[in-house]
Amino acid sequence: MTASTTLALSTTNLRKSYGRQVALAGLDLEVPSGVVYGFLGPNGAGKTTTMRLLTGLIRPDSGSISVLGQSFDESKHTILYDVGALIESPSLYPHLSARDNLIVFGATGRRVGRARVEELLDLVGLRDRAGDRVSHYSMGMRQRLGIAVALLNDPKLLLLDEPANGLDPSGIVGLRDTLKALAGSGKTVFISSHILPEVQQLADIVGIVAAGRLVTQGPLSELLTSQALVRVKVQPEETAQALAVLSKLAGDGHVEISDTEAAWLTLRIVADRAAAVNRALAEVSIYASGLEAGSDLESLFLELTAPPEPPPTPTRPGAIPGWNSGVVS
Ligand SMILES: Nc1ncnc2c1ncn2[C@@H]1O[C@H](COP(=O)(O)OP(=O)(O)OP(=O)(O)O)[C@@H](O)[C@H]1O
Ligand SMILES: [Mg+2]
Repeated sequence: MTASTTLALSTTNLRKSYGRQVALAGLDLEVPSGVVYGFLGPNGAGKTTTMRLLTGLIRPDSGSISVLGQSFDESKHTILYDVGALIESPSLYPHLSARDNLIVFGATGRRVGRARVEELLDLVGLRDRAGDRVSHYSMGMRQRLGIAVALLNDPKLLLLDEPANGLDPSGIVGLRDTLKALAGSGKTVFISSHILPEVQQLADIVGIVAAGRLVTQGPLSELLTSQALVRVKVQPEETAQALAVLSKLAGDGHVEISDTEAAWLTLRIVADRAAAVNRALAEVSIYASGLEAGSDLESLFLELTAPPEPPPTPTRPGAIPGWNSGVVS
């Protein structure tokens, strides 16, 4: 990130433990203004803890937080007027209607007019049910209302912890359009999500945390380019020769046999060089029976968040890190 970039949010060496459980082990975030920042990480990585620290719900053990250009501690109360948040499940008044929830939340901080309440009920698709008690709402309807509450003060910075939880497909599309429009108008959106294809469509910048530390942060397009892969399938008896030829093309250490039995080789090489891969093999009379190119956030995520040590017991090919592949008895 260049020094001239305006940051909507930053943390320096942020640490937080719950008893002996380290949740954040020195987190340095840089969230530029006017972007959608996708905050990703496996279960237990520290995302919700970060969100709770950013809104003052809990205090860090050490480290500093800067929100909208101001140190968080000094200006906590007023700066939060410009921050909207939805963290885990929304905190709502169950005995009140959706409309009354918005009116009550709108009475805190900067006052919100009735027109804004009606506008938000429309935006999140709850107008027809706005008079019903929230205790009678479905999970997705509560989530929609939680998003409306987060947007109530027209915040400059929006913190959303897994906001797509329980949303139906039209809710997800609506949320995506809303968040893109907000970033387009100069607002900053900091969003955690496990729906990686959704984040890939939405985020400008991505930060990935694992075990309380940032493992990567940067523009999504650059991260995907740096992780681009080409996969090629040859005959099993040709793998050694193919490996030698392709190592010359991609550089030593950038090619591996990813599946010995099916004779797939994986090259870490930009996707638009797939044709060059095919040509190099054809020159030594190896004709690929399969060729795939591209990169996706899911592969990047799995690679960057894989446990550092190999697992003690062998796993089946393609097993997902952190997920037992055995049968539960
Ligand atoms: N109130 C708490 N008391 C004790 N430990 C906690 C508490 N909240 C979180 N932790 C621990 O802190 C770590 C980070 O949890 P956190 O909820 O921040 O993860 P997360 O990235 O939001 O995960 P998920 O994707 O499952 O929502 C975990 O090891 C968790 O067990
Ligand atoms: Mg969480």
